[in-house]
Amino acid sequence: MKSTLLLPTLLLLLTSFATAQEDPEEETFSERCEGLVSTFSAADTDILLASYVTEGTTMDFPHSVGTGCALSSTSLADMCRLRLNVTTSTTSSVIVEVFMPTDWSSKGERFLMTGNGGLGGCIQYPDMTYGTKLGFAVVGHDNGHAGLSGLPFLNRPEVITDYSWRALRVAGQIGKSVVNHFYPSTISKSYYMGCSGGGRSGLKAAQEFPEEYDGIVSAAPAINWHRVMSVAVQIFKATGTPGSPTHLNLAQWNKVHQMVLDQCDGIDGVLDNVVEDAMKCQPRPEALLCGPGQTWATDQCLTAAQVATVRTVYSPVYGNNGRLVSPRLNPLTQEFVGYPFMYGGVPSSITEEWYKYALYSDPNWTIANDFTLDTYDDDFQTNPADVSTSKTDLTDAKNNNTKILMYHGLTDCLISSENSYLYYESVSRDMGLPSSQLDPFFRFFPIAGMDHCYSGQGAWFMGGSVQYGPAGALDVDPSDSVLMTMVKWVEQGIAPETLTGRKLVNGVVTGEKAHCKHPLKTTYKGTGDHNLASSWECRAA
Ligand SMILES: *[C@@H]1O[C@H](CO)[C@@H](O)[C@H](O)[C@H]1NC(C)=O
Ligand SMILES: *[C@@H]1O[C@H](CO)[C@@H](O)[C@H](O)[C@H]1NC(C)=O
Ligand SMILES: *[C@@H]1O[C@H](CO)[C@@H](O)[C@H](O)[C@H]1NC(C)=O
Repeated sequence: MKSTLLLPTLLLLLTSFATAQEDPEEETFSERCEGLVSTFSAADTDILLASYVTEGTTMDFPHSVGTGCALSSTSLADMCRLRLNVTTSTTSSVIVEVFMPTDWSSKGERFLMTGNGGLGGCIQYPDMTYGTKLGFAVVGHDNGHAGLSGLPFLNRPEVITDYSWRALRVAGQIGKSVVNHFYPSTISKSYYMGCSGGGRSGLKAAQEFPEEYDGIVSAAPAINWHRVMSVAVQIFKATGTPGSPTHLNLAQWNKVHQMVLDQCDGIDGVLDNVVEDAMKCQPRPEALLCGPGQTWATDQCLTAAQVATVRTVYSPVYGNNGRLVSPRLNPLTQEFVGYPFMYGGVPSSITEEWYKYALYSDPNWTIANDFTLDTYDDDFQTNPADVSTSKTDLTDAKNNNTKILMYHGLTDCLISSENSYLYYESVSRDMGLPSSQLDPFFRFFPIAGMDHCYSGQGAWFMGGSVQYGPAGALDVDPSDSVLMTMVKWVEQGIAPETLTGRKLVNGVVTGEKAHCKHPLKTTYKGTGDHNLASSWECRAA
């Protein structure tokens, strides 16, 4: 492995030697970047690439072919790009990318770690480039395996350990040492930003190694992992396959969504397809039940079996002996189009592959044939590599002065937003701290009308993780973005009372809202344009 690097390393050594002789004082940024191949070294680390990239360059990722990960991304800054392979055990390794913009020192000398989604082998390039645009030196990593499939977990516990926490830890440490080596000055503050699986990783850092970050932004975190896995099983078991009496097609789910809005939209006093305090939404799907002689075709109504499906999909998940496994999925979810497992009669591949490859190490295992309620218990008890990320004692984070900002869209159809409320309340009880005393280091913002990480009917755009690239949202840098909000909290001590979000229609801002910090409620004042943030205020429930 090392020997394949020898020739390019030698050539680069010679090149940089020659350059240094010509112009000993003024090695350019790009020379210093490409010289990293020889100037930087660390244990168990191979440098795969060190290259200067100008803003606007399309970076191709040939190694991503066939993995389901992005094949290219556009650089948003002039920067040094480094790609490393770090060995984490005799049977595992992590690919790490480090993006170091030219304009760093004047932008606060900040470090940013990004996180991944799903089963997590896709480096989050859009978050990385976004970070460089704001002047951060940014690190991304593949969580210890390539691609979106869980197959690499099969009989490889070290790969699961990387996925759970070690890839993040190793990538952060090596990334920081590269950044400190590369620039003339050292890192001033370190941040983390991620959503979904990446939200879980952020909280893992908060729980286990908070001293590595000054500020952690965790969105829609996949914590209490066994809960997150269970929801997809419940959906699949309830809907059955297309054609079965319990199944609803896409048009029928859209009708259900309208029914939920009809019953719940007014809860916050404003009819705008967005519901603040969505936990109050307890829809009654029987409103759609067909009477005698009525059918979907003639009356757009549902059979009793279908109504029961809707009830189950939006109910908590219960396991053996009636034990609560997971809180319910919020009934305001409307992402059916984007996530066919809701209606397609095929279980979520994330859950299925987690159970079969990581939990049971049996490639023949399927939810359809092999799932029983014991599976929930097995996942909870086995908790491979402590992926659960459910530790509620954040004393180390508090004492390390690490700030944690968590937010969760209330129309998230993949990860129940109620899971995040439960986590917050568990931290409060476990640490014996009322919310006023969590505020100095841990704040939670429920975001009405935000789907999973991005998109939705509400004012969801806040410059958060994965909100730029995939969502096709604004290519701007609002100084009140959630990341810069965290920077202000860490560096100026200005703690956020609200998070500003924008509603977007076809990429155009049509509304704004200041989302309140839990347990305060974002409340309509009773008068004024509901698209203006000034028409709302934070009130105690
Ligand atoms: C990274 O290193 C490991 C050895 O630890 C090796 O098996 C793997 O092929 C390397 N990956 C790349 C992309 O070089
Ligand atoms: C910071 O967190 C680490 C755990 O990551 C812990 O060992 C250490 O005691 C904490 N520091 C303080 C000052 O509490
Ligand atoms: C999976 O099924 C195949 C064929 O059905 C069989 O040959 C194989 O032994 C099974 N593997 C396991 C781990 O049970």
